[in-house]
Amino acid sequence: MSEGQELAEKIVLVTGGSRGIGRYIALAFAARGGHVVLTSRTQPTLDAVAEEIHRLGGKALPLACDVSNRQEVEALKTKITSQLGTVQILINNAGVAPAAGFLQMPDSLWEEVLKVNLTGTYNCCKVFLPEMIAAKWGRVINIASIVAKVAYSHTSAYTTSKHAVLGLTRALAVEMARSGVTVNAICPGYVDTDLTLNNARLMAEKTGKKVEEALRLFQGSSPQQRLIAPEEVAELALMLASKSAAGITGQAINIDGGAVMV
Ligand SMILES: NC(=O)c1ccc[n+]([C@@H]2O[C@H](COP(=O)([O-])OP(=O)(O)OC[C@H]3O[C@@H](n4cnc5c(N)ncnc54)[C@H](OP(=O)(O)O)[C@@H]3O)[C@@H](O)[C@H]2O)c1
Repeated sequence: MSEGQELAEKIVLVTGGSRGIGRYIALAFAARGGHVVLTSRTQPTLDAVAEEIHRLGGKALPLACDVSNRQEVEALKTKITSQLGTVQILINNAGVAPAAGFLQMPDSLWEEVLKVNLTGTYNCCKVFLPEMIAAKWGRVINIASIVAKVAYSHTSAYTTSKHAVLGLTRALAVEMARSGVTVNAICPGYVDTDLTLNNARLMAEKTGKKVEEALRLFQGSSPQQRLIAPEEVAELALMLASKSAAGITGQAINIDGGAVMV
């Protein structure tokens, strides 16, 4: 089978598939012929991405689900099983990243960030891994962050959640090593999405800088002096899902223009 065809007909679940990085990942897998299940909490935005994929000739199933809620993830699995089959590629991308100083941060923010970024990833792994193991093939790709490895100020909840996602990635990779399932993390630096723009707005509000200045600061944190395009993250996800990536597991691959080299 040629490289371009190997992902055809694979059932791919992309959490947080309604915008930003998740939308590009969904478009990329659909372009390779995958059956893409898109999920987020907001049905209308999911429907819009699914329509876009259909217009391009791809296959997409938009199903709303809050990944932090275990019952909703179980219900999502039931719907996917009845309409498509078993998930073969799981992309845990849904995430939130509200910035806050540690002492000012309300407990509710800490709980929300850990619930979505960490428990959401845990819930999806717990629910979808058994069928991958039974099929003796699967790919789990967790969209972490470079703050899974280093820390930035005003991101204690986010940084903690992403460090933990990396820990989970590594532990599962070892536990799944002989099952045919690989588990990896992608660690982006600042990516050109709403999430980054919102944090630039927040920084501008707090510091009196212009939003463009805040964005330039984000760009300047990378030796390449630029934001990463979401398409670049999607290409890396395609590579990790491919047959030739069978020996890559437990890895945390940075895509950040050289900002972090560990
Ligand atoms: N942008 C960056 O610079 C950057 C850098 C490193 C890592 N990342 C990571 O990449 C991932 C995607 O980021 P992004 O920039 O594309 O963010 P984004 O544009 O804000 O999109 C986030 C996506 O997650 C969904 N989502 C949020 N909470 C959810 C929940 N509880 N259940 C299901 N879906 C939920 C959102 O949809 P709804 O709100 O409609 O649910 C949306 O589809 C995140 O994990 C983020 O931490 C981003």
